[in-house]
Amino acid sequence: MKYSNKNSLTGSLIISFFFLLFSCSNKTNEVVKSEKMKVRTDLTHSYSNTSEVHTTHLHLDLEVRFDDKLINGVARHSIINKGSDTVIFDVKNLNIQKVTSGKKGGEVNLSFSIGENNELLGAPLCVLIDENTENVNIYYNTTDQSDAIDWLPKSLTAGKEYPFMYTQGEALLTRSWIPIQDVPSNRITYSANVKVPSDLLALMSASNPKNKSKNGNYRFDMKQPIPCYLIALAVGNISYHKLGENCGVYAEPELIEDCAYEFVDLPKMMTAAEKIYGKYQWNVYDLLVLPYSFPFGGMENPRLTFISPTLIAGDRSLVSVIAHELAHSWSGNLVTNATWEDFWLNEGFTVYFENRIMEEIYGKESADILAYIEFQELENELKMISEGGFPEDTHLKLNLKGRDPDMGMTSIAYVKGAFFLKTLEEKVGRDLFDKFIDTYFRKYAFKTITTEVFKEYLEKQLLTPNNIEFNTDEWLYKGGIPDNCLKLDPPRFKKVKDLARLISNGILVLDKSYKLDQFLTQEWLVFIRSLSDTIHIDKLKNMDDVLNFKACGNSEIMTEWYVLGLKNNYQDIKPDLEAFLMKVGRRKYLEPIYNQLAKNTEDLSWAKRVFKNAKNNYHFVSNKTIEEILYGETTQ
Ligand code: BES
Ligand code: ZN
Repeated sequence: MKYSNKNSLTGSLIISFFFLLFSCSNKTNEVVKSEKMKVRTDLTHSYSNTSEVHTTHLHLDLEVRFDDKLINGVARHSIINKGSDTVIFDVKNLNIQKVTSGKKGGEVNLSFSIGENNELLGAPLCVLIDENTENVNIYYNTTDQSDAIDWLPKSLTAGKEYPFMYTQGEALLTRSWIPIQDVPSNRITYSANVKVPSDLLALMSASNPKNKSKNGNYRFDMKQPIPCYLIALAVGNISYHKLGENCGVYAEPELIEDCAYEFVDLPKMMTAAEKIYGKYQWNVYDLLVLPYSFPFGGMENPRLTFISPTLIAGDRSLVSVIAHELAHSWSGNLVTNATWEDFWLNEGFTVYFENRIMEEIYGKESADILAYIEFQELENELKMISEGGFPEDTHLKLNLKGRDPDMGMTSIAYVKGAFFLKTLEEKVGRDLFDKFIDTYFRKYAFKTITTEVFKEYLEKQLLTPNNIEFNTDEWLYKGGIPDNCLKLDPPRFKKVKDLARLISNGILVLDKSYKLDQFLTQEWLVFIRSLSDTIHIDKLKNMDDVLNFKACGNSEIMTEWYVLGLKNNYQDIKPDLEAFLMKVGRRKYLEPIYNQLAKNTEDLSWAKRVFKNAKNNYHFVSNKTIEEILYGETTQ
């Protein structure tokens, strides 16, 4: 997961305020003064004034144009105005053509102005309204700087015959493809009419078609209110395979068969999840396999989780990511973090719930194996963060004032968050804990929540009535891992740890009797992590001769192997590593590899050369991270 130092925003926010002051004309000084406060103190990473006026429903009329790589259309906002003379939307690198009010056919123009662009936040779009304004229609098109959108040429798809496009909204990118109040605390319903080339299928995080339409026109509805980072669109040569009653997988036809095998347990996962935390609230749960450029393992867009093709390992060994995204249907999508400083409420809960789903289906041993791997990652990252410029980033509740929410996307939110809940579960007992979480999901369903509200609810609902003492404050507001953290050491790993020690010490050399399929993926990960950090190249070569780690096709194992190889100047991996970097855009893999490459001058120049070619195959999200690693800045 992501961790690097980023620039402060404070300076540009002040500049934006002055711009706002002069740009939103016809305003009294008083109104502007209160806006000054909002822009400078707001923690929600948005210019929008949702406490005064907010969108309740968004209707999109869009055309997706592959020829000029842009989306052109109208964002029609139904709003509730508590008496403001201005509504402020977030926009980033969008071209705004005009803004109107009124229903189709009877629209009148509204005055608007756009503030100065901030590299992270984009700009405020201020629209003058009055107390009777019920809807605001923004006519716009996206540009080649619309960071959410990835436009893929045919060559980067599985079938290589049709182009592909998809969007990634979380955390702050929705504003780069839709003019919107881009805060997680405001929930909206949405609908869309989308026109695409007639040989392609369009899908959204909404009700979806199963087949292509004749004319390339599609209609979408999301009737449950969602935070806008969950609005998503994908267009390509896509087909559908049903996996269960209300679930299935969309993928390019070339991949469908492999997907059907890999994700066969999806219906079981849904049953397990519903058994633990109650009814699935979104009717349908489908997966969409994206091209390799997708920067994440998965993204929990409601009704349609987007996933990376790296999950198709061939042996179902990486399906915990599916359990994770499914779990977000409760934690994150149903109960949403109110600000990005409460991100652990989305991800920590989800990692905890993911593990429960895995336990339910595959048993406690499998679940513990996964949690142990994650805990190793947490320990590593904790060390890095503690030694870096923002040691308070090891708190669950973050302080992201003036910083990119991406800074919070570390295993602190994910794994420390999950272990907080695991430790609590152990303390109070599973029965009581499950009842508590179940009522929590019911009480805050379709709402947003802060860490403080959660803490109060926990105390009132679970701890006080049961006379339980727990160091909640230490977990939420202090650094590091509290002493009472649940400890795991699954016996299953003893074998691979012993094997790694024997090899590192030169006592054992692998022979052909060792096979890749004799251990689980997760056991190989622990095996590689247990090898000595300084290990002779001959030993690495021997392991590659026998097991072919460097080109085994499992991206988790390959990443771990490449990092160890680079640490030991094992040059034989370079051709396979280059091929991997040219193909895979998932940041979780790219980040540790490029980080390791950046540690020595020769590898750094090699990495820069590879990245120059590979960056076209990555999404903006990954490019931004890699540019920081290789050049210490973003050169967008
Ligand atoms: N919601 C996240 C992805 C995300 C987080 C995107 C923050 C943008 C900003 C997603 O659910 C996630 O956590 N993905 C992980 C899965 C893993 C932890 C099982 C990933 O992609 O690695
Ligand atoms: Zn997640």
